[in-house]
Amino acid sequence: MIAVTGATGNVGRALVERLAAAGRPVRALTRDPGRAGLPARAEVVRFEPGRPDAQLAGVTKLFLYIQAVGEHTPAFLAAAREAGVRHVVLLSSGIIQEGADETHPIHVMHATVEQQIRDSGLAWTFLRPNAFAVNALQWAPQIRAGRTVRGVFADGLTAPIHEDDIAAVAERALLDDGHEGAVHRLTGPEAITNAGQVEAIGRAVGRDLEFIEVPPDQVSPELIPFVPPHMLQALLKAFEATVGATPEITGTVERITGDPARTFAQWVQDHAADFRA
Ligand SMILES: NC(=O)c1ccc[n+]([C@@H]2O[C@H](COP(=O)([O-])OP(=O)(O)OC[C@H]3O[C@@H](n4cnc5c(N)ncnc54)[C@H](OP(=O)(O)O)[C@@H]3O)[C@@H](O)[C@H]2O)c1
Repeated sequence: MIAVTGATGNVGRALVERLAAAGRPVRALTRDPGRAGLPARAEVVRFEPGRPDAQLAGVTKLFLYIQAVGEHTPAFLAAAREAGVRHVVLLSSGIIQEGADETHPIHVMHATVEQQIRDSGLAWTFLRPNAFAVNALQWAPQIRAGRTVRGVFADGLTAPIHEDDIAAVAERALLDDGHEGAVHRLTGPEAITNAGQVEAIGRAVGRDLEFIEVPPDQVSPELIPFVPPHMLQALLKAFEATVGATPEITGTVERITGDPARTFAQWVQDHAADFRA
């Protein structure tokens, strides 16, 4: 049995759908099973990180999403080991790399959990993706409402990755041998600016969209939804670093899954409905 935390999230949902479609026993852990809308083949269980025993019974492999387990992580990992879990695949972050600012809050958050997993005695695989393509949904309310998009760093350059490509790598790491102790750095296949992403969305929905750059010191939390307010400044700093820098592009998705990583334009095709009024 494979347990997936954060099972209704961007990556978690894609992973549960993949495992269920492949006929693998999968337990989807979610705070609200009634609203999860996950495949019938998945066993959907209410997630209570402080009470791990029932949720981990019979589980041999675990996909871990940091925010779902939070402060309970060390105890949850100990319970997992006790319950017979052998391998944990962590959704970490590409922010962890050589030369990184190790005091950056996003670095601290992910590095702390990586260390807790190393200390747990479980076999592990760390997935370290860079920017998600799904971050573009931050602009969806503005795009549904008009033809201008106010946002930061028009020239910020990333190689956004499709959430299902991350899930595809997680699936292989959970099902195949040879991923224990591996760190997989994951990116999309090509670089694109923020303004370029908005243009690509405009092409997909058949409207000319204009990116209007907002200085970072004038950003209000509503402009960058999905981000906890206490993380906003740290995130803006990370976004700023994407201006004038060449983004990392790895071939890891194709190497591990056999399929090339999907482009941002392909991601937009999959999400065009989210941008239509
Ligand atoms: N966005 C990026 O560019 C980027 C880049 C690198 C790394 N990452 C990392 O990737 C992860 C985000 O992945 P994602 O987009 O798949 O996640 P997501 O869609 O934001 O959320 C995952 C799921 O986890 C559960 N959850 C969320 N917050 C929770 C909380 N505070 N307590 C308990 N459960 C919570 C929710 O499921 P239920 O309500 O069903 O329980 C949610 O659907 C983060 O750790 C992030 O740091 C992101």
